[in-house]
Amino acid sequence: MTDPERRAMARARWLGASVLGTTSPNPAVGAVVLAADGTVAGEGATQPPGGAHAEVWALAAAGERARGGTAVVTLEPCAHTGRTGPCADALIAAGVARVVVAVPEPTELAAGGADRLRAAGIDVEVGVEQDEAELGALGPWLTGVREHRPQVVWKVAATLDGRVAAADGSSRWITGEQARAAVHRLRATCDAVVVGSGTAVTDDPQLTVRDADGRDAERQPLRVVVDRRGRLPEGARVLDDAAPTLVSRAADPAELLAELYDRDVRRVLLEGGPTLAAAFLRAGLVDEAVVHLAPKLLGAGPALVGDLGISSIADALSFETVEILPMGGDVQLRLLPTRHTGARQSVLEGS
Ligand SMILES: NC(=O)c1ccc[n+]([C@@H]2O[C@H](COP(=O)([O-])OP(=O)(O)OC[C@H]3O[C@@H](n4cnc5c(N)ncnc54)[C@H](OP(=O)(O)O)[C@@H]3O)[C@@H](O)[C@H]2O)c1
Repeated sequence: MTDPERRAMARARWLGASVLGTTSPNPAVGAVVLAADGTVAGEGATQPPGGAHAEVWALAAAGERARGGTAVVTLEPCAHTGRTGPCADALIAAGVARVVVAVPEPTELAAGGADRLRAAGIDVEVGVEQDEAELGALGPWLTGVREHRPQVVWKVAATLDGRVAAADGSSRWITGEQARAAVHRLRATCDAVVVGSGTAVTDDPQLTVRDADGRDAERQPLRVVVDRRGRLPEGARVLDDAAPTLVSRAADPAELLAELYDRDVRRVLLEGGPTLAAAFLRAGLVDEAVVHLAPKLLGAGPALVGDLGISSIADALSFETVEILPMGGDVQLRLLPTRHTGARQSVLEGS
């Protein structure tokens, strides 16, 4: 890979991430077309369902400059005709000389793009910085393809001693403005925001995406309350008309995720509380955790997660820290569960 191609791949990942939350059930793909001299000729990202794929958008922006150039894409261009035509054919028609791909197409339906490009005499490289792309914007869609469920991001705000509310139940606000604004940006990348009935009753959250001035965003994720005993009061803010809401009676997290998957949800933000989060963790259904830690102590109040059925340190559920970000006075941790390790297995087997 050349330096311009490496930069283009990083940019393509960024472009994919910029449309996360608007493409489901389709993947959030990013594409950059480099002209023959290595300069950027066009950029694109997946448009909402029914709209153009990333490569087609980038090719349109590049126009004639694509001829003899290189297309850099986070996902292998498709070879099938869905709501849009095959991207492989669009790349051939545009006359690109080379295509660089991060993630090979995992579905049989759309596979064959790389072969079709090669058959047309185009140089194709697949698997470039694949892990980075899979951990990024393609994660939700890949989770759907591989596990037939949405990706789950668990978000929680806690004090230094791991409390998510005070003893009197008050929890506004544990973190400062910057961290709370980050939560709204995170919600915007998701198709659904989920809370348990305990949180819905105690905090009465609205669960909408708002900008820095408190205005509702145009696109709102589905709000979901898991309320098996019908405890949600009629006047709850989550039932207002600011966004669609689903009150689910799903018996367990897997049933809830199946229900959401059927509604084309591919990325879920699990916003607690501790009891529902524990149920997801015990079921091995958390793919990423975003933890906001505030430099405060409460000494009492609910812990950030409920009972996980763990009694020994050897069985602790462990995570890999992939990012530490200061946010005003608070800190954001991005954590990935260390799946299929001994500790993880023992938790799953014991649950
Ligand atoms: N700081 C933060 O980030 C944060 C975030 C959220 C909440 N909180 C705090 O957390 C506290 C509420 O805690 P909580 O544990 O009561 O809230 P919760 O986890 O939101 O709600 C618990 C309830 O969820 C329902 N539920 C639905 N499906 C479930 C399942 N599969 N497994 C277990 N429960 C399920 C159960 O009621 P049913 O049986 O009736 O369905 C259960 O009683 C509040 O003080 C709130 O302020 C803090």
